Amino acid sequence: MHLTFIVGTVSDTALYVAQTVQQVLKPQLTGSTLILAQADTTGEALEAAAAQGPVLICTSTHGSGDLPENLQPLYADLDARPRYLGALRYGVIALGDSFYDDTFAAGGRLFDARLQDLGAQRIGELFTIDASEVTDPETAAALWAQEWLPSAAASFSA
Ligand SMILES: Cc1cc2nc3c(=O)[nH]c(=O)nc-3n(C[C@H](O)[C@H](O)[C@H](O)COP(=O)(O)O)c2cc1C
Repeated sequence: MHLTFIVGTVSDTALYVAQTVQQVLKPQLTGSTLILAQADTTGEALEAAAAQGPVLICTSTHGSGDLPENLQPLYADLDARPRYLGALRYGVIALGDSFYDDTFAAGGRLFDARLQDLGAQRIGELFTIDASEVTDPETAAALWAQEWLPSAAASFSA
């Protein structure tokens, strides 16, 4: 199975997390792609990824509950040019800090809600990583992803 990572980050924690998960899952995958979202990342990239296999969104939260700047263009494009994403099976790793209380991990939740609005199906619960509690986010994410992968694979082939 192919797995695509889509990463939203400001100071690279979410990127390191995604890279670690990619490395750890490698033996179980036929291939993987890591997309560090950019200004020109649009819904087409997501649609193309969905056709290949499940997608793992890995994003932090910044501002007051906002997505990282690099993921905002994709998020906005999915609003401006909505597309049916019924084929998309995805998981979410949402990094945040419970210090921010009301907006804890809001970036991942925002993205999750938009994908669900467009008909995509999340596999498993959204996984949050709290910077106030977790000192090793890469390991926490890798452990979660090992559990998540079989359900993602089953949902994609179903
Ligand atoms: C200026 C700033 C604002 C933040 N705002 C939030 C927030 O609203 N909610 C939240 O859960 N975390 C918030 N965070 C915490 C980050 O999401 C967390 O530290 C994360 O691990 C950073 O990941 P990154 O390096 O991939 O961007 C904020 C961090 C900074 C520096």
